[in-house]
Amino acid sequence: MTEDKGMYRTVRFSQTTITELMIPSYANFGGKIHGGILLSLMDKVAFACASKHSSGYCVTVSVDTVDFLQPIEVGELVAVIATVHYVGNSSMVIGIKIIAENVYTSTVRHTNTSYFTMVSKDQSDKLKKVPGLILETKEEVKNFMDALKRKQMKDFYKNELQKIHEAPITEESISEILIEERCIVAH
Ligand SMILES: CC(C)(COP(=O)(O)OP(=O)(O)OC[C@H]1O[C@@H](n2cnc3c(N)ncnc32)[C@H](O)[C@@H]1OP(=O)(O)O)[C@@H](O)C(=O)NCCC(=O)NCCS
Repeated sequence: MTEDKGMYRTVRFSQTTITELMIPSYANFGGKIHGGILLSLMDKVAFACASKHSSGYCVTVSVDTVDFLQPIEVGELVAVIATVHYVGNSSMVIGIKIIAENVYTSTVRHTNTSYFTMVSKDQSDKLKKVPGLILETKEEVKNFMDALKRKQMKDFYKNELQKIHEAPITEESISEILIEERCIVAH
C-alpha cells in the first residue's frame, strides 16, 4: 500500500454537492424519477468527495442501504450531498444525503440517505493510504462512530451469512424455515 503518513484533512475540505434539475427524460412510466438516475448521481458525488479527500483516483467498493422512501417528481431540484464519515486505511465511507426542492414553493424534502464505501488507488492500481480525518463537530464524531459500528455489524453479518450458506439443507430445515413463507417446495 502507498503510504501517506501523518496527513489529516477536515470533513469540510471534501464535502461536495451536485445539484440537478429533474427533467422529464429522467422519469419512469409512473412519472416519478428513476431510481437509477439517483444512484448514478450518488455514485458521481461519492467519487468526487472521496477523490478530493484522498487527492487521487477512487473506486466504489460497496453501497449500503439505498432506500427510496419518497418519490422524486419531475421539476424538482435535487441536491446530492456527499460527506466523508469515516476513513480506514485505503477506504472511506461517504455519507450521501438527497434533498429534493420544489422550485415553485421552495419546500425541501430529505428523500434518501446512503453510505458508499470508496477505496483509493494509486497509478499502479495498488491500494493507497488515505489521509486521516479531523472531526470538528459533534455530528462529525457521531458520523465516524456510527460508520465504525456499521462496519463491525457488516463483518458480523457477513460471517453469519457464510455459516448459513455452509449449513446443509435438510428436510427438517426446509420445513422449519419455510413453513410460514409463501412458497411451495415442488422438487
Ligand atoms: C476494492 C478492491 C480494491 C478491494 O480489494 P481487496 O483485495 O478485497 O482489498 P482489501 O481486502 O485489502 O480491501 C481494501 C479495503 O476495502 C475495504 N473493503 C473491501 N471490501 C469491502 C466491502 N464489501 N465493504 C466495505 N469495505 C470493503 C476493506 O475493508 C479495506 O479497507 P481499509 O484499507 O480501509 O482497511 C477490489 O475489490 C476492487 O478493485 N474492486 C473493483 C472496484 C470497482 O471497479 N468498482 C467500480 C464499480 S463496478
